[in-house]
Amino acid sequence: MCDSCKKKFYITTPIYYPSDKLHIGHTYCTVATDAMARYKRLRGYDVMFLTGTDEHGQKIETRAKAAGITPQQFVDNIVTGEKGVLDLWKLMNISYDRFIRTTDDYHVEAVQKIFKKMYEKGDIYKGTYKGMYCTPCESFWTESQLKDGKCPDCGRECQPAEEEAYFFRLSKYAQPVRDLLTNTDFLEPRSRVNEMVNNFIDAGLEDLCVSRTSFTWGIPVDFDPGHVVYVWVDALFNYTTALGFLNDKYDDYEKYWPADVHFVGKEIVRFHSIIWPAMLMSMEMPLPKKVFGHGWLLLDGGKMSKSKGNVVDPYLLAERYGTDALRFFLLRSFPFGTDGNFSNELLISCINTDLANDLGNLVSRTVAMVQKYFGGKLPAEQEYDAAMDDELVHMASSLHERYEAQMERYAFQNALSEIFAVISRANKYIDENAPQPFMPDTSAEILRRIGAERGDWDSLCEFGVLAKDAQVTAGPALFPRIDAAKELEALEAMTAKPEEPKEDPLPEPLPPVSFDEFCKVEMTVVKVVACEKVKKSEKLLKFTLNDGTEQPRQILSGIAKFYEPEQLLGKTLVAVTNLPPRKMMGRESCGMLLSAERGDKLHLVMLDDAVPAGARLV
Ligand code: ME8
Ligand code: MG
Repeated sequence: MCDSCKKKFYITTPIYYPSDKLHIGHTYCTVATDAMARYKRLRGYDVMFLTGTDEHGQKIETRAKAAGITPQQFVDNIVTGEKGVLDLWKLMNISYDRFIRTTDDYHVEAVQKIFKKMYEKGDIYKGTYKGMYCTPCESFWTESQLKDGKCPDCGRECQPAEEEAYFFRLSKYAQPVRDLLTNTDFLEPRSRVNEMVNNFIDAGLEDLCVSRTSFTWGIPVDFDPGHVVYVWVDALFNYTTALGFLNDKYDDYEKYWPADVHFVGKEIVRFHSIIWPAMLMSMEMPLPKKVFGHGWLLLDGGKMSKSKGNVVDPYLLAERYGTDALRFFLLRSFPFGTDGNFSNELLISCINTDLANDLGNLVSRTVAMVQKYFGGKLPAEQEYDAAMDDELVHMASSLHERYEAQMERYAFQNALSEIFAVISRANKYIDENAPQPFMPDTSAEILRRIGAERGDWDSLCEFGVLAKDAQVTAGPALFPRIDAAKELEALEAMTAKPEEPKEDPLPEPLPPVSFDEFCKVEMTVVKVVACEKVKKSEKLLKFTLNDGTEQPRQILSGIAKFYEPEQLLGKTLVAVTNLPPRKMMGRESCGMLLSAERGDKLHLVMLDDAVPAGARLV
């Protein structure tokens, strides 16, 4: 399908503060976004996946000053430097389509135009700001918003602050924003709606201070030098400037805006579900379709955060366990919408149980069995046993429906549970159908009847593996006893008689001889010491025989087409030993080996090997 015919899907992560290296909590949101972007591409969407960095603000100015470098050098280092943001996303295999830095020129110019537009409209006006300011969070709070006198986000001290500033008429949009939150599913999970409505909107939505004069690391208000744009106004509009809104850098605004979903951490839901739609309403721009507020990864029950210093290093984990294992762990172990407790034990058990045991084993067993039983290729004809196969086949072929339903609600953990239910069932299938070396069905039936839960190799190596209360089950005789006489009769009746082979005619009888004459023939038992073909003769074998004397006896015999020489080594034969020697093919033959002949068949006369060489036949 051509790109312009495809359905669009625009998804974003928050843009990260490069005030410090990123930690596993940031990785969590980006990995989730990446999984969703890949899923949508798989489903045929034309996906725009945006991420980036939010590089302005007092915190960064302060950090840079402390490091003795410019703010730009400071952020460059964390964004593009070694083990910086870009490196991390590469390591985590993040398939973003676009990366925005709020220090990019096109963004800076676009934000200035946006600010001016809202000012000209009258939605931004100049006033005096009095309030409490949390420096690490870059947040102004009213007295009523403070929690026990401290920042409601991070719990730290706030400073009173007063300055001439521009304000955005947030109060004007309180009702439409309230309607948006309560009447649509703009914000999910639904539990976050009550929090926003009760704690912020219904508590009284005051106009928002949107400029600063106390520091300079920000986007200048171009019509009032000395003021810089509040970092959240700057940051939120990244979702549109990155598409080309009010700038020439890109031309995708018409194509992708409004966003299908913004993934954001729960502490910034307020900015995304109240301030962001209000400013878009002011700008008369379409609203994003959804904001999804995910939970936090907690460490020892508290938020993992760089300002607290209790961060887990994604580099370390990815390098140790592999990128995919880490990605999998993040989405498999915690429901996306609520907080989850990170621990090394959980990470390792997740890798062992789900990946090594379930998934890894399934793949290796499957491949090993196809190799062993089918020479590595699936057989063209595949047997299908409804009783055995139906359940798994049905589970597997309907998986996509359950998987899709969960993905469409951003329930990554549930989507993985659906997949792993099939993996488990497939492993069980292999166990159920495990090929046993001699009598596969019987072995399984015996195990079932004796109440054994296991028939695996390990259980064979141990005595007493049956459960104490194992339930046994009776059944018909495994192998019903056979009545031999009856059965043989029946078999005989069923067996077609093979045609009698035609016998060769008997040789002509010979004239009688006297006993004395017969006794003149010396017949001696000989053992074959050596035997070989005579060169250039098709008929002759040359025998070296032990006739019981010291002297080996040589006899030539025309039986080459009946025996291979090796067959006869060591055999006990009978030779006539008082015939006169004769020459055959230039070799002397001293005697004649006795054989039995009828028609064209010939058998050497062979005696039991117990008979000693030299014994005389009488
Ligand atoms: O908030 N668990 O940037 P940021 C889960 N620049 N998510 C976590 C987390 C944790 N322990 N720690 C951080 C900002 N995050 C702004 C965004 S968007 C226009 C501007 C998440 O670097 C956090 O919830 O402080 C947020 O969604 C994201 O990382 C970026 O945090
Ligand atoms: Mg933050």
